[in-house]
Amino acid sequence: MAEEEGEEYLFKIVVIGDSAVGKSNLLSRFARDEFDHNSKATIGVEFQTQVVEVDGKEIKAQVWDTAGQERFRAVTSAYYRGAVGALIVYDISRKTTFESTKRWLDELNTHCDTTVARMLVGNKCDLEDIRDVSVEEGKSLAEEEGLFFIETSALNSTNVNAAFEIVIREIY
Ligand code: GTP
Ligand code: MG
Repeated sequence: MAEEEGEEYLFKIVVIGDSAVGKSNLLSRFARDEFDHNSKATIGVEFQTQVVEVDGKEIKAQVWDTAGQERFRAVTSAYYRGAVGALIVYDISRKTTFESTKRWLDELNTHCDTTVARMLVGNKCDLEDIRDVSVEEGKSLAEEEGLFFIETSALNSTNVNAAFEIVIREIY
């Protein structure tokens, strides 16, 4: 959905990944510069729109966030419809969430074509002490699957804007 209205662009970006990897906090950090230590699991679908400037053009990033937990998820096909970018998020302190990214990619590939800009995001990089997925593991998966790769922290803001902006630039 790269709708052009005069000089305006609207890009739909979906955020996917297991429950509690920090999807909602990445979004709230990006859109409102907020972080919630006690955020509740998302139920259904939420989205936020954030204006980003790229090469002097205003781009509206409409970022969609859904539940990692199957039972809280809304209709999957509607969630992906019209997406031009995707963040596939795992938690660097929980290996299982990294292993799940393949499943999330399968779902993305089922619903979107290959032109969707994809970023593999290792969130919670502030948790270096209890790291369970190395940077190299993240990088090599991203290379295998043809994804961009970045590590972020919604807690201390590391690379959060960069993660979204790289995807937006790729779409643009
Ligand atoms: P679902 O909605 O259930 O799919 O989860 P989610 O992926 O949206 O996770 P959410 O953003 O709700 O975050 C889950 C927990 O991780 C919360 O306690 C957050 O405070 C915490 N959290 C999120 N991002 C970070 C981060 O970058 N670092 C640390 N240390 N904690 C984080
Ligand atoms: Mg959530």
